[in-house]
Amino acid sequence: MPKVDIWDLPELPKNQLPPHLQLQRTRVSCNNDAPTNTENITYSGAYASMGVDNMVRLNDFKEKFQVKVTKLNEEDMEFDLIGIDASIANAFRRILISEVPTMAIEKVLVANSSSLVQDEVLAHRLGLIPIKVDPRLFDYMSENDVPNEKNSIVFKLNFKCDRKSGERRTVYSQDLKWLPSGSEYVLPTETPSDTTSKPKTYTSFTSSQDSLPEFSNNPITVASDIIISKLGPGQEIELEAHAIKGIGKTHAKWSPVATAWYRMLPEVVLLQDIQDEDAEILVKKCPVKVFDIEDIGKGKKRATVTRPRACTLCRECVREPGWEEKVALRRVKDHFIFTIESTGALPPEVLFTEAVKILEDKCERVITELS
Ligand code: F3S
Repeated sequence: MPKVDIWDLPELPKNQLPPHLQLQRTRVSCNNDAPTNTENITYSGAYASMGVDNMVRLNDFKEKFQVKVTKLNEEDMEFDLIGIDASIANAFRRILISEVPTMAIEKVLVANSSSLVQDEVLAHRLGLIPIKVDPRLFDYMSENDVPNEKNSIVFKLNFKCDRKSGERRTVYSQDLKWLPSGSEYVLPTETPSDTTSKPKTYTSFTSSQDSLPEFSNNPITVASDIIISKLGPGQEIELEAHAIKGIGKTHAKWSPVATAWYRMLPEVVLLQDIQDEDAEILVKKCPVKVFDIEDIGKGKKRATVTRPRACTLCRECVREPGWEEKVALRRVKDHFIFTIESTGALPPEVLFTEAVKILEDKCERVITELS
C-alpha cells in the first residue's frame, strides 16, 4: 500500500467532515449482527478538533426541516419528518398516545343487565369504544364539577331479547343512543312526597346539546360495529353511559390513536456491482422487493435498488457470509417516516397539529419557569 503523507491530503471544505465520520454522524449502520452508530452526536464541540461546528442553529433547522405527507385518509396518515432529532419525533409520538385529549365513557349506570357479561366487564368494554366527537368542544370535568352539557356526553343502551320467540341478538356499539338532554335517570329525592319541583337527574344540562350550533347538524355518534355483548332469550341490558374528556396518560381509553409510530428512512446501498446469478439471488432474498434487475446489454443483468423505502430491515440480504461486503443497510438519522392511526375522534392530521400545540405549550412553560 502506498505511504500517505497526511500533509498531502486534500483540504476538506470548511464545515465538512471526512466521509467516514459524516456517515457515522448521519446514518445508523444496520449490520448482520447488530446496528452501530445509533447515537445522535449533539455536543456542539464534538468535531471541534476538525474545525467542524456541530452546534444546533435555529436558522439551519428552519432551512432543513420539512414535512411531506405521503398518505392521508380519514383514519391513517403517513408523512415524513425531515431534519429533526429522534428525541423530537419521539416526543410527538408520546404526546399523540398519551396527551392529546378525547372523550370516553367513564361512568356506566346499569339499571338492568342480565347478559352473560358481568357489569364491570361491560363498563370496561364501553369505555374503550371511540366516541366520534371533537374533544376541543368540551371542558375537562374536575372532581367538584357537576356534569353539564359542556363537560359530559350521555348515551343510553336499551336492548332486550324476547323470551318466547327464543330470539338471540348481538349488541353493537351503534346501539348506544346519544341523549342530548343528558341523563334520564332520576336521582332519589330526600322528600319523596314533594311532587311540585322538577325531578333531579344525574346530569344537569341547562340546554340540550343538539340545540348547540356545533351539534345541531352533527349528532354525536360512536365507532360502529364493535360487539358489546351477546344476548340470549329473555336477557336484557338497560344502562346509561356517561362520557367525559380525558387523556391517554390517565387511561388508554382516552388515547386518540390506535397507534402512532415512526421508523427512520431506510437506505440500501450496493457497495459493488452485483450481476447475473448473484443479482437474481439478491432479488429473491428480499421479501418486500426492494431490489430489481436491470438489463445492461450483451445478455448481462445487474441488481438495482428500486424501493429502498419498503425495506423492513429483515436483513435477509446480508445474512449469508460475504453479502455484507456487497450490500450496506443504513438508516437516515434525521429522517422519520411517521404513521398515525386515529381511533376516529379527530382526523390524523388534526391530531398531529394538536400534538405540536401541546409540545409548544410545554416549551413555553419551561421558558417561563426559567425566566
Ligand atoms: Fe429486503 Fe434486505 Fe431490507 S432483504 S427488506 S432490503 S434488509
